[in-house]
Amino acid sequence: MDARIAVLASGAGSNLQALLDHPSVGPCIELVVSDKPQAGALERARGRGVKAIVLEPAHSATREEFDRRLAELLEEEAIEFVALAGYMRILGPPVVRSFKERILNVHPSLLPAFPGAQAPRDALARGAKVTGVTIHLVDEEVDHGPIVMQECVPVLPDDDETSLHERIQVMEHRLYPQAVRLLMEGRLKVEGRRVHILDGGP
Ligand code: GAR
Repeated sequence: MDARIAVLASGAGSNLQALLDHPSVGPCIELVVSDKPQAGALERARGRGVKAIVLEPAHSATREEFDRRLAELLEEEAIEFVALAGYMRILGPPVVRSFKERILNVHPSLLPAFPGAQAPRDALARGAKVTGVTIHLVDEEVDHGPIVMQECVPVLPDDDETSLHERIQVMEHRLYPQAVRLLMEGRLKVEGRRVHILDGGP
């Protein structure tokens, strides 16, 4: 399997690391793009000899120009699949349309509960007893596309945002490489909002 995957990340990059460490997915990661020059994800990529590029929004005059530059970069690198791994920008239509059903996102809640950038904090603030991980295909709305996988993570009485997010991330690191592998193997069949996993499961 020699798919070409790009990972987009804004932060520490622990999900990128889980993807790099996966025996089938890791060798297919050809490019890491970050909107933040200080993102730990860039170092993780470079440490593995993966091309790592910073695309700073401030260097584009408009949102549209930024989106177009990102779409061009992915095209230049002949990328086939995109994995968002803690990428904290909304992907613009040029990328979402060119990669229809070929972009995955990992989100730290059971969507549609707690969308947005602070899902573990929001789950705690709401007094949720259970939250979790959602991996979904990306469409033009935020945290919205068809759901590929979900797993629950209990909220414990003593949890704070850090402890809860840490347990959620353990689950993310287990699930996300499996989902990316299914995508690159062509084993996700989308019917409306439902995603079927072909050939039995991960
Ligand atoms: C992850 O927990 C991911 O689910 C979350 O950001 C974290 C990034 O961590 N993403 C979102 O909240 C997207 N809405 P990482 O940089 O260590 O992978």
